[in-house]
Amino acid sequence: MNMTITCRKALPEDVDALYDLIRGYAEQGIMLPRSKEALLRHLDSFIVAEEAGKLIGCGSLFRLGSDLVEIRSLGMAEGYKGRGLGTLIVDALIAEARKLNVPKVMALTYAVSFFVKNGFQVVDKEIFPEKVWTDCVNCSKQDRCDEIAVVKILS
Ligand SMILES: CC(C)(COP(=O)(O)OP(=O)(O)OC[C@H]1O[C@@H](n2cnc3c(N)ncnc32)[C@H](O)[C@@H]1OP(=O)(O)O)[C@@H](O)C(=O)NCCC(=O)NCCS
Repeated sequence: MNMTITCRKALPEDVDALYDLIRGYAEQGIMLPRSKEALLRHLDSFIVAEEAGKLIGCGSLFRLGSDLVEIRSLGMAEGYKGRGLGTLIVDALIAEARKLNVPKVMALTYAVSFFVKNGFQVVDKEIFPEKVWTDCVNCSKQDRCDEIAVVKILS
């Protein structure tokens, strides 16, 4: 049976599922952990994908400046990858950036070809302002960051 997948803004009742999804990837070292309190505080910045009432993916948009936002906490639940859902969430986050009138969307990632397929280009990390790195204090790899910076300039 083909279930309908919806992409929408996160709601307070999503916090537990969001927390679990992000924690799973944080434990693998490919995402920063987020506390339930932090998720609740920044809930408005999250887009989730849902199928039959189950949260199957998420992504958030973090404002870094007047012209720059960062895609954070982008991940699909196991068993839901490769079905275009990541692209759907990135598209929804880009639509949010457009609404905010922010022209540059960046991400720090290991999934480089996924972002390139979605119109991002690989750039030198050094081009970004210091604000980008404030979250790195929460990262175990802060002194040996091997993530790749990607950016999309919205037309
Ligand atoms: C990266 C991720 C969000 C992509 O979501 P998805 O729903 O699987 O992606 P889509 O189905 O929209 O797109 C699939 C395409 O992206 C590419 N892709 C998917 N995951 C990738 C990865 N980890 N690295 C490189 N490319 C990847 C695939 O090769 C695929 O290309 P194809 O269509 O030519 O085969 C998802 O795989 C995921 O949750 N990964 C683990 C968490 C993660 O790495 N998040 C990114 C942090 S910024």
